[in-house]
Amino acid sequence: MCGIVAVIGSREAAPLLLEGLRQLEYRGYDSAGLATVKSLEGEDVGTLTCKRAKGKLKNLSSLVSNQAAPGHLGIGHTRWATHGKPEECNAHPHRDSSGRIAVVQNGIIENHRALRKELEAAGVIFTSETDTEVIPHLIARELKPFLIRGASASGAVLLEAVQKVSKQLKGAFALAVVWADTPDALVVASRQAPLVIGLGEGEFLCASDTPALVGFTRTILPMEDGEVALLTPLGIELYNAKGTRQQRIPSLLRGGDHLVDKRNFRHFMLKEIHEQPETAELWVERHLPAGLPVESPVALPFDESFYSGIERIQILACGTSRHSAMVGAYLLEQFAGVPTSVFYASEFRYAAPPLAPNTLTIGVTQSGETADTLAALRMEAQRRDEHGDPAFASRQLGVTNRPESSLSRLVPNILDIGAGIEVGVAATKTFLAQMLAFYGLALTFAARRKSRSSDEIRELTEGLRSVPNQLRTLVQTHDELSESLAHRFADTQDVIFLGRGINYPIALEGALKLKEISYIHAEGYPAGEMKHGPIALLDPRVPVISIAMPGVVFEKVLSNAQEAKARDAQLIGVAPEAPGTEIFDALMPLPEVSEWISPLLSVVPMQLLSYHIAAHRGLDVDQPRNLAKSVTVE
Ligand code: F6R
Repeated sequence: MCGIVAVIGSREAAPLLLEGLRQLEYRGYDSAGLATVKSLEGEDVGTLTCKRAKGKLKNLSSLVSNQAAPGHLGIGHTRWATHGKPEECNAHPHRDSSGRIAVVQNGIIENHRALRKELEAAGVIFTSETDTEVIPHLIARELKPFLIRGASASGAVLLEAVQKVSKQLKGAFALAVVWADTPDALVVASRQAPLVIGLGEGEFLCASDTPALVGFTRTILPMEDGEVALLTPLGIELYNAKGTRQQRIPSLLRGGDHLVDKRNFRHFMLKEIHEQPETAELWVERHLPAGLPVESPVALPFDESFYSGIERIQILACGTSRHSAMVGAYLLEQFAGVPTSVFYASEFRYAAPPLAPNTLTIGVTQSGETADTLAALRMEAQRRDEHGDPAFASRQLGVTNRPESSLSRLVPNILDIGAGIEVGVAATKTFLAQMLAFYGLALTFAARRKSRSSDEIRELTEGLRSVPNQLRTLVQTHDELSESLAHRFADTQDVIFLGRGINYPIALEGALKLKEISYIHAEGYPAGEMKHGPIALLDPRVPVISIAMPGVVFEKVLSNAQEAKARDAQLIGVAPEAPGTEIFDALMPLPEVSEWISPLLSVVPMQLLSYHIAAHRGLDVDQPRNLAKSVTVE
């Protein structure tokens, strides 16, 4: 979490930093800050100005527009609080006691308590509760001998100090450092946290994510694990963790990485829900081109060796990505016949099951940066490498919307879900795209293992081809319908979501969407589980949203809904207008599609209803409290 941006160049840094931070605000919005160093000739050369504001970036922007922050060198930060409340004193940048060194950091310094104690014992007075504040003080301690010797300050001196300090820090972090004594040097470091250098015209930038760079340059150099770089107006010096100079050719950002824009929608989330037909259409174009043989029904970027000998699959993910993984596991097991398990990445790390041979591990992460998912994948690869038996060797696939993210540097195979940048913190179109990725995998495994007949494979493939148009109609009609239903939830405090089989993960996803953006308590249950306890929660004040799609569990779900109705719950059905569905007090109608396809459609009313309930309550839909889009802390 947290976004950092830094620039050194020939124009004023503050406006660039603010624009970069605006693009990174999805990473956290508890507070924001920037520090600039005046670097041109003049009286106040080498002046460090620091501005910080609690709350969203707009507070910092108005502060900076009233009180100048001059300089062509600067660092900025947008924070998602980990250590210390979202107060101004905890906002970044943090400075050393002289106020001449400033640091922004994204990540967690795990040994900050011990370091703080050590520094306090040496007389340092801390002004924040953050883990980050130890860094400027440690850098100051490293610089002291240089200054005592009377050596002149230079970028090389700052670089060496940051390299030394990095070695003292435990944890995963990305940081950017400026020193008022070196107005022509910016030092950045990255350890298991993303940082991308941008090579602009007459300027160099660095940011946690590419959207902060695209307004300025498309030439980028993603930093690798453990690297430290010195950026000066003349160029970049890049060093690995051992201090060896690195030479790498920069790459060009893909066309899809664009500046974030709401178009005419009130919120990014609504825009992204409306983009789903296009997301599905693109997926069909890319992966289901006409003329593919039934033995290989999906165009995927893997060769024979990727599939050979896979006997089971385990999927690691968090949050919404885990829900898509659950739909995926259902398809891989029930359609393709491959035993598949899904784990919370955060649990898997500390309680992984005993190793099984010939296992494909799939990490699903929209951002490609989720610390728990990355750490779980790293841990799994390591224990398999240590095993030694080739049957247990690590085989990993990453499913992500950000193929340039840290995930791609960790796993050998990437499946790019290609949904385009998603800004709303609540995942919508990327959830759909993740599910589609699993349809592609399940069809491929089913065809290769011959676990389904050619007709069944063709039927599912044809079903998928119809999804973009079905979504198009659905998004339009349900937008209006959800808006009109939303007022019913004005005083609602609890909502129950029910689903079964392939739609159980959609019930979980519906509950998660509602919780995170409307702050209404919501739970998703497998419908058959209600009678084992949760039914005690029901009364007329608790709406029950039940997904009932024709298929193996249709009648069962209707009976479960009936049980809720008998307890006077308000029943909302997400179901086709089919016999039996008249029991619902309100119906969010879906077309009658095969049960296999249904999650791709049933999720839309969930997303739109949550959106309209939150918007109706006047909440900040795109940036809900306490959340961030990219969870880079454990
Ligand atoms: C919910 C949501 C989160 C993320 C979770 C994992 O709308 O967005 O639950 O799904 O934080 O993030 P990624 O997919 O980036 O690993």
